[in-house]
Amino acid sequence: MQKIGFIFDLDGVIVDTAKYHYRAWKKLANELGFEFTKEQNEMFKGVSRKRCLEILLEIGNVTAYQEQFDAWMVDKNVDYLAYIENMDESEVLPDVPRVLNFLKDNHIPIALGSASKNARPILEKVKLLPFFDSIVDGNNVTKAKPDPEVFLIAAENLGVPSNKCVVFEDAVAGIQAANAAHMISIGIGDQKVLSESKYNFNDFTEIDTDFLSKLLRS
Ligand code: G6P
Ligand code: MG
Repeated sequence: MQKIGFIFDLDGVIVDTAKYHYRAWKKLANELGFEFTKEQNEMFKGVSRKRCLEILLEIGNVTAYQEQFDAWMVDKNVDYLAYIENMDESEVLPDVPRVLNFLKDNHIPIALGSASKNARPILEKVKLLPFFDSIVDGNNVTKAKPDPEVFLIAAENLGVPSNKCVVFEDAVAGIQAANAAHMISIGIGDQKVLSESKYNFNDFTEIDTDFLSKLLRS
């Protein structure tokens, strides 16, 4: 049997950090004199920090020189880091540890494939770092999702062919990246939004051992 690998996105899959990203972007928008809604924040899921700021400034009709742009990127991240400072295991999304433990018990290699540059400290805070054989995040990629780069590097690090990798993702761009890498894409969240995924679940509580065992045999 050929080896299979599992790749997890972080934000919205393992932890619900979207609310902290939202607070930090909203604070910046308000300081710049405009509103930023929760609905608009949906567009930021899976999107790199730089691209998020570009979109935010488009929403507020604000233009910025490079130096100012870079300073706002730093401001947003300083606020975000303050909001996640006290994160702990209680913020891990339901049944994620159960699935990780099942994979570990079956000696399945596990990687993180995230756009975030804060992935490692977050995994440390929520005490899940030891589960991961490889961490590929915003610091290791040059091309953002929907480009498959992040997942292809993860597969290579795990020593597993791309078509033998399973990807859990909550963002449309992430599902597209997994599909572009010829991986088995599993959408976590609204099926209408993640319609391009091969399988879809609202959250990990819906993923049972039978389904995971079927994936291991695929
Ligand atoms: C994830 C989140 C995005 C966030 C991106 C970069 O993909 O879903 O909302 O913008 O990571 O995160 P970072 O922690 O590097 O600002
Ligand atoms: Mg995500």
